[in-house]
Amino acid sequence: MDIHADRLWNRLMALGQIGSYPDGSITRLSCTKEDGLARDWLIGEMTAAGLEVYVDAVGNVIGRLSGEDANAPAVLTGSHYDTVRHGGRFDGTLGLLSSLEAVQTIIEQKKKVRHTIYVIGYKDEEGNRFGFGMTGSRCIAGIMDPEGLEAKDSDGITMKEAMAQAGYTPADYQTCKISPVKCSIELHIEQATVLDREGLSLGIVEGIAHLLLYQIKITGHSGHAGANPMKGRRDPVVAMSEWICAVTKEASKEKYCVATIGTIQASPGSFNVICESVTFSLDIRSMSVDEIHACLKRMDDIQEEIEKRHGVMIERTLVQELKGCPCDEPMKNRLEDIMARNSIPHKRLMSGAGHDSQNYNGICPCAMIFVRSIDGYSHRKEEYSTPEDCANGAQVLYEMLLAEAGEIR
Ligand code: GLV
Ligand code: MN
Ligand code: MN
Repeated sequence: MDIHADRLWNRLMALGQIGSYPDGSITRLSCTKEDGLARDWLIGEMTAAGLEVYVDAVGNVIGRLSGEDANAPAVLTGSHYDTVRHGGRFDGTLGLLSSLEAVQTIIEQKKKVRHTIYVIGYKDEEGNRFGFGMTGSRCIAGIMDPEGLEAKDSDGITMKEAMAQAGYTPADYQTCKISPVKCSIELHIEQATVLDREGLSLGIVEGIAHLLLYQIKITGHSGHAGANPMKGRRDPVVAMSEWICAVTKEASKEKYCVATIGTIQASPGSFNVICESVTFSLDIRSMSVDEIHACLKRMDDIQEEIEKRHGVMIERTLVQELKGCPCDEPMKNRLEDIMARNSIPHKRLMSGAGHDSQNYNGICPCAMIFVRSIDGYSHRKEEYSTPEDCANGAQVLYEMLLAEAGEIR
């Protein structure tokens, strides 16, 4: 192998310490102290690896290896450095640190490439603090939604206020765009069981699912929990439970569609008070956007019926739409050749999870390498990939970067 498996693993474990809890889980939310510590650690590692490092206006940490042709479009590689609440050590960070390892190996081997390579530690992919994800990659792709900067955390602090407090300049988010770009290549853990069940080390992503994120608010009528008989209540919690069961059933009717309620807030939220309102999230995804729309259309009718029966009002607000992304066929073929050459067991598979790469849809060709997740655990502390699988992934990424960036022999 060309890459250094131990160095990659040691870095993974080191970054996994930042924001870690005694139970082994990690929380690194955007613009928190832990996020800043991870950024500073990354700057140090990228600089030591020989990259030209800068942090852009929104907090993407970027290491550049200049290509021989200053006019040639750039090759982007990397992944995110934030985590979900109580997440694991591999989601995002494995991809980012594999990119760093691959490019450091290119530097150490004194190889020359035609295209400049950007190793990117993307800012806030998970969106767990502000309920708005992919901020860093959307800024780099030049498709940031300015209203995302106004999204608030649970304390009412907006993303742009938090960024300013962390020393960034969110008003300059348009300066983050990197252009022109030749292609993007991201490595990530699979986060499901397909590779593990089939005994395969790596995957080649066919494409990334489409995602719609909504906030649903149901308003009813508050009152005393003991004094009001069951008949005649306008309880939004009861309406919500029916709504959730219905969306679960409707999503299950589609081939690829998955619907998840991840956050719920009841107001006023006291045990002896019938709630006035409930607000919850709906994360709905599919490989086919038509499936999502078909499911939501059926929900419109069901919702109307629930509103009438419970005397409540249901409002559904779109928070974010992340378009799916087919991966590039020639790049997939090149990955396949590299994996075959290295005798690494692999297969092609779809990604139900979202990734920074999907923001380059329509901007440049994208490819993704998946690394087997043991037992499929992800977004939880049990997330794990073996050192051998991680090393396989980084080696393939290294060879792929040399191919894409045009190694000069
Ligand atoms: C990112 O992890 C997502 O798919 O939500
Ligand atoms: Mn994730
Ligand atoms: Mn991720």
